[in-house]
Formats: sequence, C-alpha cells, structure tokens
Amino acid sequence: MKAITTVMKTVMAAGAMTLLCPAANASEGVEINHLGVNNTLVRVTGEGNYIMLPVQEANDDARVNVLVDGKIAETIYVRLASSKTDYTVPFDLTPYKGKNVILDVVTPQGRSSVREAKEDVCWKGIALADKLDYTDRETRFRPLFHHTPQYGWMNDPNGMFYKDGVWHLYYQYNPYGSKWQNMSWGHSTSSDLVNWEHKPVALRPDGLGSIFSGSCVVDTNNTAGMGKDEVIALYTSAGTSQMQSMAHSSDNGITFNVYPANPVITLESEARDPNMFWNERTGEWNLVLAHALDHEMLFFTSPDLKEWTLQSAFGKGIGAQDGVWECPDLFELPVEGTDEKKWVLICNINPGGPFGGSAVQYFVGDWDGKKFTADTLPDGSIPTKWLDYGKDNYALVSWSGAPDGRRTAIGWMSNWQYAADVPTMQYRSANTLPREIGLFRGPDGEVYASSAPSPELLGMRGKLTESASRINAGSKARSFRLPEANDGVCEILMDIDAAKADNVTLTLSNKAGDEVVMTYDRKASQFSFDRTRSGIVDFSESFPAITVSPTYEKNGKISLRIFIDRSSIELFGNEGRFVMTNLVFPTQPYSTLSVASSGNAKISNLKIFSVKTK
Ligand code: FRU
Repeated sequence: MKAITTVMKTVMAAGAMTLLCPAANASEGVEINHLGVNNTLVRVTGEGNYIMLPVQEANDDARVNVLVDGKIAETIYVRLASSKTDYTVPFDLTPYKGKNVILDVVTPQGRSSVREAKEDVCWKGIALADKLDYTDRETRFRPLFHHTPQYGWMNDPNGMFYKDGVWHLYYQYNPYGSKWQNMSWGHSTSSDLVNWEHKPVALRPDGLGSIFSGSCVVDTNNTAGMGKDEVIALYTSAGTSQMQSMAHSSDNGITFNVYPANPVITLESEARDPNMFWNERTGEWNLVLAHALDHEMLFFTSPDLKEWTLQSAFGKGIGAQDGVWECPDLFELPVEGTDEKKWVLICNINPGGPFGGSAVQYFVGDWDGKKFTADTLPDGSIPTKWLDYGKDNYALVSWSGAPDGRRTAIGWMSNWQYAADVPTMQYRSANTLPREIGLFRGPDGEVYASSAPSPELLGMRGKLTESASRINAGSKARSFRLPEANDGVCEILMDIDAAKADNVTLTLSNKAGDEVVMTYDRKASQFSFDRTRSGIVDFSESFPAITVSPTYEKNGKISLRIFIDRSSIELFGNEGRFVMTNLVFPTQPYSTLSVASSGNAKISNLKIFSVKTK
C-alpha cells in the first residue's frame, strides 16, 4: 500500500470526450484493497469533496456499496473502466465528512486472477478532488438555448411546478454516467424558461428503489398536513417492483423529506409516473398513473395526497397499443374560438410511435373527476392522435400551477431507440423547447392539441441577420445564410402561400454536403422532414428517418417558425398546429437555407434571427 501524501485539489480538463477528469495516476488519499477476482475495497483516507470514478461506457455496471462507518449509506452502479477511461464521474463525499468511507466494489467482469483484476485502469484513476470542472467540451452538439444537464444522462422531464415566479424542472438523471442508471431527480430552475440554473440533485435512490418519474404540487391548503404551501412530490419507487412514494419539501423543492410511511400506492402489476392535480370542481386530488404493460391509465382520487382510491381505468384496446404506456398528464383547455372546454389525456408510449420508438399520444374527451371518456369519431371509434410528428419529443408533461391559465409543457428531446448512442458523451440529451398546449378544431371537425413555442422564447431573439418581405419561389432555389454567431444557431420565420404550387422545399445545408430537407406538400396537406443525409446518422439504424405531419389546413397557406440549436431542429407550423422535433448531428454546422418550389409559391416575411441568451 502506498503512503498517502497529497490530495488533488482541482480537477483538470483533459481531452475532448472528458467529462470531469482528474490527473492520470492520481490515487493519493485513496487506498485500494483487492479481495478477489471481482471484489475490491476503495478506502478514502485523505481529504476531498469528491471521489472521482473512471468510466468506460462499453462496460457493464459495477455495484458500489458506499459504506459509511461500516453501514451501507448508498448503493450506486458505475461502468468502472477496465481497459480505457472515457470520462470520470464524481461521487460527493461532503455528506460524509469526518466519517470512514469505503466503497465496496463488485465488478461485473470476473477476472481469471486477482493479478488480472488489479490491471483494470479504474484503480489507478480513482482520485479525490475538491472542485469539479464543468467546462463544456462538447459545444459542437450541446444546445445553446435548450435545457441540458451539466454532465451525465438525462431522460424524462417530470415533477415540474411553478411557484413564486420560478419554473422548477426535475428530470430523470444519472449522476454517475451518460447512460441510463441510478435514476434520481436532477433539478433546474428558471425565471424565463430559457436560462436554466442547475440545483443539487433533489431525490436519490433509497431502500424502496430508484426514483422514477412523478409530479409535484404546491399544497396550498395543507391537505397533507405537512405544512401550508409545502411542495409535495409523488414518484415511482422502482425497486424489485414499482410502487408510488411521496416526499415533501419546505424549501421550494430544493431538498425533500421522504415520507416515512412510503409507499402510498401499491398494485400487483407494473405502474408508474404518477401525475396529480387539484380538482376545483370536486374538491379533491386527482391522479393518473400509467399501467405500463397493460396499455392503460389508472385514475385515483385522494383528500390528502396520502390515501389514494382507484376509481377507473382508460385505454385497454384503445389507441396505439404496441409499446408501454408511460408518463401521463390530464388537463382541461378551451377549444380555440369557442366557449367549449375539453380534457386532454396525454399517454406517452414507447415503442409504437408513428416513426418508430417513443412518441406523445393523446386523447381528447371529458373528465368527471373519476372517469375519462374519450370523444369518438362518427363511426364510434376513438382516434389516435400525436402531439409531435418528429422522432424526438417524448415523456412530455406539463407544469403544475403555471400562471394565467397556461398549460406549459416540455418533453425529453430524444427517443429510446437511440438515446444512449447519440454522438455526445459529456452529457446525453436535452429537453425540447417549452411549449404552450392549446386546442383547435381541425378541418375534419376533430379537436386537436397544438403546441406553440412559449412566449418567453421571444426574449432570446437576437439580431435579424436575413430578411425578405416577399419572394416568388420557383424551381431555382433562393438561398439565405444562417447567422455566423454561435455556429448557425437561429430562429427562422416565414409565411408560405402554396396555392399555386405543388410543393415547397426548404433545405438546410453545409459545405460538407449534409442536408435536412423539409417539404410542404400542398395537395396532401402534409409536411415532411428528411434527416437521412443530415450528418452523423450511422450510430443507430433507427436514426436516419423521414417524418411526416398533417398540416391541418386546406388553403395552401402555412406559417413556419423553426428553431435550430446545434443538434436539434424544432419546426412549429401554424402556431403549433403541426410540430416536428428532430435531432440532427451535422458534421459541421448548417450554414445555408435554400427555398425552392415546384410551381409558383409566394414566400413572405422570411426572417432569420440569431439567438441571445443571458
Ligand atoms: C419513460 C420512463 C418512465 C420512467 C422513467 C425511468 O421514459 O420509462 O416510465 O419513470 O422513464 O427513467
């Protein structure tokens, strides 16, 4: 064993794919004892706020029991590096200051001898650190104005609530790697839905399991008896089985106390992602729970957020039934231009989306406080509707308590088909832009949900870099430059009148020959998005795709608002009546927008803005 002399004080940046990387061979303050072919004790003997763990993404997880004064305080799963270190992740030692900390590591790759096990590169790389370096080393793809985690893996946004002018966003988070594992609630806050501040992890796995998606409410009337205006979270404890648990926060969602009598809801089959709201009409709490494998949603009521009564179910045999049903939401909205109000039941499903993998399905209907009844078509059937006709908007749910009757929602901008394989490593996944959900009646008489960019996004509009008040687009393409600032990150607006054209094509391209082709097919009232040649597409065979949306108009006129943020394109048509959210990984930033048409289309109010953030 080596004598312990110094402790590394800062973590140095190193290498493009480095996450948080300590100096090589830094192992002072750490004592390693190999106990066998796949069991090692890592004893913290020095001072430091963090112990840095080297990760090799292709490996399986090692199980790490964190022993504090001899008791298991936490169990985490980390893909400890054996032959090469992709990046390192920090384990926070500050809660255990002054105590004896030992990591009891069981590695998955059984070695033939202890001598061989000792060769794993992680043992030399494990080191103490006082500070973390969050320098972004993946600016090529990391979005500028979308929410991303500082490092590590993120999936579903959940538990969102609005209180005292602050938008709280929690998300499914792995603090110990850039693949799904160790599900915890990461936390960020914003006062403008554009600039996000990172907060400490709010909920971590406990004895009942890891912390899957859920929801938060502000208990204004102290129905739960935890205090007036206490923030109450309900989430899925995912251990051997799934059950629903509660936690409450008296500091506006920064820290939570887990309810000692958890779980509050148990069932005999897999159910998750509880989403609750206060029902003014019935004077009680309502909750929707995804009965995942049964492809249905379950509805509960409660007077106090602790005792929940199952009232009904919706979904068996209805809508898309291919995948699991997850992440529900239920809310009421006015139908645009009428006095009518309708309820929307969001049922995220995976797989089974219109272009494969994950997607946001929804139903429009009525809710009486106990039962959801979907509107039917004249033939009595219940239509399947999709909120987004791109491939990369999943687990979309809305904020609880948004002001001014707004129904503001956000999704996870990825797809379970390839989320873990996208070409980023320091962080994996961003959220979609925040959207305002509304209802409108389509030309077929059906009520559909729209999702338009939240008004706050106007605040990040930068310089007008290109504009054309009116152009006639023909077969010869007209080209416009994307802003040079921030590698082409921009917002594009235009109105298209294609009454005298068959189609209009918008192409985003760069000098490397990557291109995204978006086509409005006037006759079919459809809009398509082709990312098959958009850049890096070969990390998953499910990635290259053409997505197609109905445009819900009959007059050949559409107005577009397109947001490009390095590795994502979000297209909002006709104030969010049709929406496409698609990831792209160009080999260099797109620099040009070209517009062409077959026939004679009129393009007006074309504007390209750069983007400013704080
Ligand atoms: C949806 C989901 C949820 C679950 C969470 C786990 O993407 O599968 O149903 O709560 O992810 O991370």
